[in-house]
Amino acid sequence: MSPPGRPSASERTHLIRACELAERGRGHVSPNPAVGAVVLRGDQVVGEGWHDGPGLAHAEPVAIAAAGDAVRGATLICTLEPCSHTGRTGPCTQAIIDAGIARVVVGALDPLERTRGEGVRVLEAAGIEVAVADGEDAARAREAASAFLTWAATGRPEVILKMAASLDGRVATRTGNTRWISGPEARSLVHRWRAESDAVAVGIGTAVADDPMLTARDVEVPEGRGALRVVLDPHARLPLTSALVGSAGEVPLLVIAGPDADSSRVDALRATGAEVDLTAADHGPEYLAQAMDALGRREVQSVLVEGGPTVAGALLEADLVDVLAWVVAPIVIGGDGAPMAARGHGADAIADAPRIRSPRVERLGDDVLVMGRLRPIAGEG
Ligand SMILES: NC(=O)c1ccc[n+]([C@@H]2O[C@H](COP(=O)([O-])OP(=O)(O)OC[C@H]3O[C@@H](n4cnc5c(N)ncnc54)[C@H](OP(=O)(O)O)[C@@H]3O)[C@@H](O)[C@H]2O)c1
Repeated sequence: MSPPGRPSASERTHLIRACELAERGRGHVSPNPAVGAVVLRGDQVVGEGWHDGPGLAHAEPVAIAAAGDAVRGATLICTLEPCSHTGRTGPCTQAIIDAGIARVVVGALDPLERTRGEGVRVLEAAGIEVAVADGEDAARAREAASAFLTWAATGRPEVILKMAASLDGRVATRTGNTRWISGPEARSLVHRWRAESDAVAVGIGTAVADDPMLTARDVEVPEGRGALRVVLDPHARLPLTSALVGSAGEVPLLVIAGPDADSSRVDALRATGAEVDLTAADHGPEYLAQAMDALGRREVQSVLVEGGPTVAGALLEADLVDVLAWVVAPIVIGGDGAPMAARGHGADAIADAPRIRSPRVERLGDDVLVMGRLRPIAGEG
């Protein structure tokens, strides 16, 4: 069979729409990928769909149902290769074949090597023409499903590191005062990100200094969801009197401790309803890599890390950050003792410094958000 062709110019435009639809599933679909689909007759959109959560219909059958009778002989555009296996719902390839679709445009192939191309083969074997996007189109199609794709390729969650700093890169004054560096608009966006993430993490230094709750407030959190709260705490130092531990019975809390953690402290934390995962390494990049592996084993596909500077620097040096979200406030804190946003060794040369690829720059009230990927989505080829 000859390799699949490429989408036409018009199909590429409609693929952008399918990507927008996929985004509607963000924060609802984990551990499934966010996928969007559009049904076209000629240049006319006759059906749209997106996946809205585990156990619910996939994007393709939703778009097919929305198209009604217009579906026979139509073109289906979907952001991700349609599945050919039976999971909680039937295979999408069968729904496409049964609907009488004539042509399918795939944004990105299945991330799992053992099933990659399988959906395309099943469709082609049924006499359906298939085109697969490449380059920027494929990258855009992968973006909405980036957390799933990262996890599928690496076994670890996609790591989004968020920090808020002054113009001179400080995260606190020399006296330790931190509230508030960023304004209400930036803080409210962080609450939305918390709601969209599978987990929200901080280092133990921040847990002790700020005593945060790490819950998403003033945003709608879909029923049954709510990010797992995580403390990167190699020595199990999290105080039993902290707000995190105090709420562990109601909102899930995971402490990731190392091999040297005092077992009586681990037991005391567990007795409060908190979970404790133990890593084999107690410091450095190994500890952080193992902590991310532990989250991956729990099917955590996205983690928002909210500092502090020690953990931020260590994650960057360990090359474990996928997306950087840096809020810059229009203030100068100054002083020799005021802590910087990323501690540790830092880059030796400017050329080695982690750099955002094509940063998105956005005004949030008086603050500026600079955000983007430090590297391509894992498995992108
Ligand atoms: N502006 C912002 O965006 C922002 C965000 C968060 C926090 N903050 C501020 O930052 C301050 C706290 O920052 P921090 O740097 O002290 O604390 P931190 O980064 O939250 O936590 C540091 C601790 O994390 C543990 N850790 C885990 N993995 C590590 C690794 N690979 N390398 C080193 N340590 C690792 C260590 O615990 P052990 O010592 O037990 O090994 C370390 O002491 C507070 O003042 C807080 O308000 C600001």
